[in-house]
Amino acid sequence: MAQWTSAVGAAQLARLLNSQQDRPAGPGTRRPPAYRVLADGIRLLVLEGRVPVAARLPAERELALSLSVSRTTVAAAYEALRAEGFLESRRGAGSWTAVPAGNPLPARGLEPLPPEALGSMIDLGCAALPAPEPWLTRAVQGALEELPPYAHTHGDYPAGLPALRAMIAERYTARGIPTMPEQIMVTTGAMGAIDAICHLFAGRGERVAVESPSYANILQLMREAGARLVPVAMAEGLSGWDMDRWRQVLREAAPRIAYVVADFHNPTGALADEDQRRRLVDAARSAGTVLVADETMSELWLDDGLDGAAMPRPVCGFDLAGSTVITVGSASKAFWAGLRIGWVRAAPDVIRSLVAARAYADLGTPVLEQLAVNWLFSTGGWEQAVQLRRAQARENRDALVTAVRRELPGWEFEVPQGGLTLWVRAGGLSGSRLAEAGERVGVRVPSGPRFGVDGAFEGYVRLPFTVGGAVAEEAAVRLAAAARLVETGATGAVEAPRTFVA
Ligand SMILES: Cc1ncc(COP(=O)(O)O)c(C=O)c1O
Repeated sequence: MAQWTSAVGAAQLARLLNSQQDRPAGPGTRRPPAYRVLADGIRLLVLEGRVPVAARLPAERELALSLSVSRTTVAAAYEALRAEGFLESRRGAGSWTAVPAGNPLPARGLEPLPPEALGSMIDLGCAALPAPEPWLTRAVQGALEELPPYAHTHGDYPAGLPALRAMIAERYTARGIPTMPEQIMVTTGAMGAIDAICHLFAGRGERVAVESPSYANILQLMREAGARLVPVAMAEGLSGWDMDRWRQVLREAAPRIAYVVADFHNPTGALADEDQRRRLVDAARSAGTVLVADETMSELWLDDGLDGAAMPRPVCGFDLAGSTVITVGSASKAFWAGLRIGWVRAAPDVIRSLVAARAYADLGTPVLEQLAVNWLFSTGGWEQAVQLRRAQARENRDALVTAVRRELPGWEFEVPQGGLTLWVRAGGLSGSRLAEAGERVGVRVPSGPRFGVDGAFEGYVRLPFTVGGAVAEEAAVRLAAAARLVETGATGAVEAPRTFVA
């Protein structure tokens, strides 16, 4: 069997290579030979995730034609890439991209540190905000009042409390997506939802198409479930989903599931438009792929022009028959991650299988927390709390953007209209080295490769909208200090960060 899971055409690769900025040769240095420039260009595209790992490259002759260079140049570039571990080939199967073993730092999920362990560190590791009080306290008080009848039951509800299932179904119906309670399962966060989905659909060796980059912990969850990740590169900037690429990957790799975050994608913040959503659903349906749409960020629109009515229709709105899309939702980003409440919307038979799949992991989600979310939904407290949440995220985003632009003018990013994250190209520096240096100067920042498959996105870091005001400014100052350490290659002790009180 071929080792590649998607393909990049000659014209497409030529376009990507031509869009790379020329890296000027330093004074007194000779321009490297053409094959070296080409090999470096392809290597960078792989490390930045613009060409996925395990993507078949065009034949030498085709690429030579598209680039107007000699075939010898392409052959020498491919040979150099093979020697460096960025390309693998087999006679008859072609050549496909790879990342050498031991390259950068291992891609892993994110490990939230307990707040008590942070000390003077500014934590940009987690894209989750504190609870929007007083709504958490009110919701828990409301839940306590609703608790007595449940206290007389055994308390295990593997599909979720009937009242909350009905309420979530009603909210989908109000968004124009008719939904019955039997189509809803309440889970322990969106992570619990995706874990059950992986159990059911993406066991060992199954292919799962994922955006590249994508949310680090879901990638890690899928890896640990034994799935083979098939990365589909996101387009540059905020335009997100390149539908030709998606159609091609789904057709060629025929993955069991495809996982997408169409609403304020984590980490890029991109928002899929209705045309992209429709085409994603169509492509998944034709390939026989289950499309998992993660709506965790969907209520976090931050810009004035956006509101609930202006948001694109949910991905499942393009699958009214309910045969292709499974939707995952969560209270973690819009309200508070500490509740650990998420949910799945799917066809009733899929929900029944998911309930069976999750039963051996956690038997159900805590009743009190479900009652708290149900209280928020049924009293209108949810909408008021989410408005507070949006205001805070917007303020943080704007403070962070201003501070990073001032302290690190060479870092590039686009400001998303919503979500909780800024995806930043770190001025040619290694994101992994920046993360290491950040730990030494008092800022915890996740490096790009955590959001990629097999070491891609080495030149990126992700910054969340979790700090504002003076803390955002100090965070940018520390990131600039980390960047200087990386640039100068300094190792060894640095002055401990001063304690920072916001
Ligand atoms: C896209 C996405 N999905 C899922 C999660 C995890 O959500 P939960 O806390 O509900 O498990 C996150 C958290 O950052 C996320 O960004």
